[in-house]
Parts: sequence; structure tokens; C-alpha cells
Amino acid sequence: MCADTLVSGGASLRCAAGHAFDVARQGYVSLLTGKGTVHRSDTADMVAARNRVFDAGVYQPLVAAVATHCAGASAVLDAGCGPGQYLAAALEAAAPEAVGIGVDLSKFCARSAARRHPRAVAIVADLWSGLPVRDGAVDTVLSVFAPRNAAETARVLRPGGTWLIVTPRPGHLAEIVEPMHMLSVGDGKTERLAVELAADFDVVSADRLRVDRDLDEPTLVDVAAMGPAAFHRTRDELVAAAAATAAGTTVRAHLDVTITAARRR
Ligand SMILES: C[S@@+](CC[C@H](N)C(=O)[O-])C[C@H]1O[C@@H](n2cnc3c(N)ncnc32)[C@H](O)[C@@H]1O
Repeated sequence: MCADTLVSGGASLRCAAGHAFDVARQGYVSLLTGKGTVHRSDTADMVAARNRVFDAGVYQPLVAAVATHCAGASAVLDAGCGPGQYLAAALEAAAPEAVGIGVDLSKFCARSAARRHPRAVAIVADLWSGLPVRDGAVDTVLSVFAPRNAAETARVLRPGGTWLIVTPRPGHLAEIVEPMHMLSVGDGKTERLAVELAADFDVVSADRLRVDRDLDEPTLVDVAAMGPAAFHRTRDELVAAAAATAAGTTVRAHLDVTITAARRR
């Protein structure tokens, strides 16, 4: 990306240097150039599974908690937005004219995020190559279970703006991680976050949200299939794992996360 301003012209965005990016029929723009990126992005099946999990309300307490932090915001950027549920809820809680920008490596996520809210736009971009907005353009950035680019977040947030970060705690879905072949949460994430924030942010709050969820077999399959387990297990393997885990009833698991609000200095 040359980082110049993009101007809308019909079905594409163009900069003064002549770079042009088409607006997809589904309402998102891809700013990935050349070979794109080396990172593996979510597939259509993973995004469909994630949407079903949200529509079943599994993450609703967390969606609501994130939205609460966005009350009164005027411009929200969701970095690693997934299918866009957090961004849509944030916009409902934000100022009436607030705009939302969802950024994700996956075009399937962008497609979903663009549809989730009328004031949301979605951009396919690699957040390690930079966030595609001007310096100080937004007052809220969301990073929910997503990779974090602290320097870019500091650049795009106006002073006093909020970076809202959701990180899983070791107990997050711990009851189903092993039986459903999911990745467990690594150690040291809290320390890493403190290091990332030190240069440009002050932590305003760090709240634990722990809530139990009763998951039936189809939901267990989707919770596993929306994450990295989908890259190394077939759907049939996940269906068998869910049947062995829930045995015709439900399994109680916990959402267990930390919601950190940090203020841009
Ligand atoms: C665990 S998912 C979380 C999605 C969403 N925030 C949620 O909680 O539902 C991580 C998301 O980050 C996106 N992602 C991973 N690497 C990325 C990158 N380098 N740039 C932009 N998005 C990325 C993935 O495509 C995926 O949608």
C-alpha cells in the first residue's frame, strides 16, 4: 500500500498515484496487493460456523460487555473483526452517526462484517502491514481474540481514544479444548499485553468476564470449527468428538476472558 488517500469513484477506490481497489459486490474492499499475505485466513466454512455460534447467543455476554465500552464513540475500528458481531454491537451503543470500520485478512469475514451493520464498512487487509485509516482518525479500536499491532493502533487512535482488548484466560472454554481438538491458551499473554501497551497507552480497566454456557452437540462442533481446529480436523472428526463429549445432552463450559480498556496518551 502506498498509504495515500483513497477517493471513491464508482465501483472502486483510487489514489493520486493511480492505485485502484475494486469494491466487491458484497460490499467490502480488499487492499491486499501482490501475493497478498503469508498468514492463513479464516475460510467461508469457519466464518459460517462463527456466525452460527454468535447467532446462538454463546458469546452474547461478551458482545454486550464490549458494546458497553463503546457508548458514545464516533468512529470504531475493529482490527481482526471476524464476521463483525462486535463491531455491529459497538455501533449500536456508539453515537447515532458513528461509523465502523472492520479490518480482517479474510474476505469471508469482511463480506459478513459489511452486512452486519449499515454504518459498517469492511476492508480486507493485513493488520501487520498497517491499518488502512489516517492518523488519529478513530476514537475506539477493538481487538477481540485477534492479533494486535500496537504501533498502528496508537497511530490511528486520537489522543484520549480507547483500545479495547479481549484476551482469553487459561480457563476460557477449558472444559472443551482437549476433547474438541482446540488450541489451548498459551502462557504469558498478560505480560505480553503489558509490554505492548507500555509505550503509548495507560490501562484504564482490566475486568474479568466469566460466564457459564451450556453447549449442545451442533454448537460444540461450530465452536471448534470456527477456530484453528478447522485447519487440522475434518468436520466429521469434530462431529464425532462432539458426540463423545456431550453424549446426547449438553456440556457446560465457561467463557473466561479479560477485557482491557487502555487510553491513548
Ligand atoms: C480468533 S478470530 C476473532 C474474530 C473476531 N474478533 C471474533 O472474536 O469473533 C481472529 C481474526 O483475526 C483475523 N486475522 C488474523 N490475522 C490477521 C491479520 N494479519 N490481519 C488482519 N486480520 C487478521 C482472522 O481472519 C480472524 O477473523
